[in-house]
Amino acid sequence: MTDALSPAKSAPPPRPAKLGVPDIRARKSGTGPKLVMVTAYDFPTARLAEAAGIDLLLVGDSLGMVVLGYASTVPVTLDEMLHHARAVTRGAPATHVVADLPFMTYEVSDAQAIASAGRLLKEGGVDAVKLEGGAAMADRVRAVARAGIPVMGHVGLTPQSAGNLGGFRVQGRDLASARAVLRDAEAVAAAGAYALVVEAVPAELAALITARVGVPTLGIGAGAACDGQILVAHDVLGLEDRLAPRFAKRYADLGTATQEAFAAYAAEVRAGAFPDAAHSYALKPDVAAALRAAEPDPPPDG
Ligand code: KIV
Repeated sequence: MTDALSPAKSAPPPRPAKLGVPDIRARKSGTGPKLVMVTAYDFPTARLAEAAGIDLLLVGDSLGMVVLGYASTVPVTLDEMLHHARAVTRGAPATHVVADLPFMTYEVSDAQAIASAGRLLKEGGVDAVKLEGGAAMADRVRAVARAGIPVMGHVGLTPQSAGNLGGFRVQGRDLASARAVLRDAEAVAAAGAYALVVEAVPAELAALITARVGVPTLGIGAGAACDGQILVAHDVLGLEDRLAPRFAKRYADLGTATQEAFAAYAAEVRAGAFPDAAHSYALKPDVAAALRAAEPDPPPDG
């Protein structure tokens, strides 16, 4: 007999092989299907993403806004990233997992960047780190890569410095800033990044970046020409209704479904309809009768 405490008996589906850095590099334009990446911050989401065949998971520092309720990604700490990275890597052992280096855990020095990245690999179990910034961060990318830690770059809109960029805005719309974003991408790729997130730039600029750099580009709000795409899981699932960037396509409305499920549960509890017999445990009748005989009701007070 099974009940709610019994583990599911069905055999797990066969796992696809985990992508390594060379596999990801090899998926540069036209060499294999586009790469598909999504954020994950917890064990169940990581499991579901892996079962769905997602290629790469990002434990993004969007964690701060999406899951922890901060107003920006700036307050996120390395310890918070580690806590969530461990959950994700437990949930998706056969998926390439990248974790963000949060604000001020890599900017100070090469040594700081290597130490922070090292913790994410050793304690978080991730396969690679991502850090935001262009030419100004190329030295950090180089240092971390030379320390043997795969680094993903992130150019265009870099949320950790949204304040400097005038908010969460599309980058590279005019000639000078488009050229600056292109230079950033080239610098980070030349410094040893194995892939590059390109966020919130016009599609033509992302196409140019994709053509110019020798590593795969993962676009978010950057058009269709990139070598792959990344989205925030809560946007994909319809769990985030406070921020609605134009590029964030919803593939489900789990926010409404979740709210309806909670409301239905609350209504049934209040109406006495839950739990019913199907969701309760029962004693055998003879044991129940013996228990009642051995434990008679106490006399009423007074
Ligand atoms: O933190 C994050 O989720 C990200 C993606 C938006 C690329 O960096």
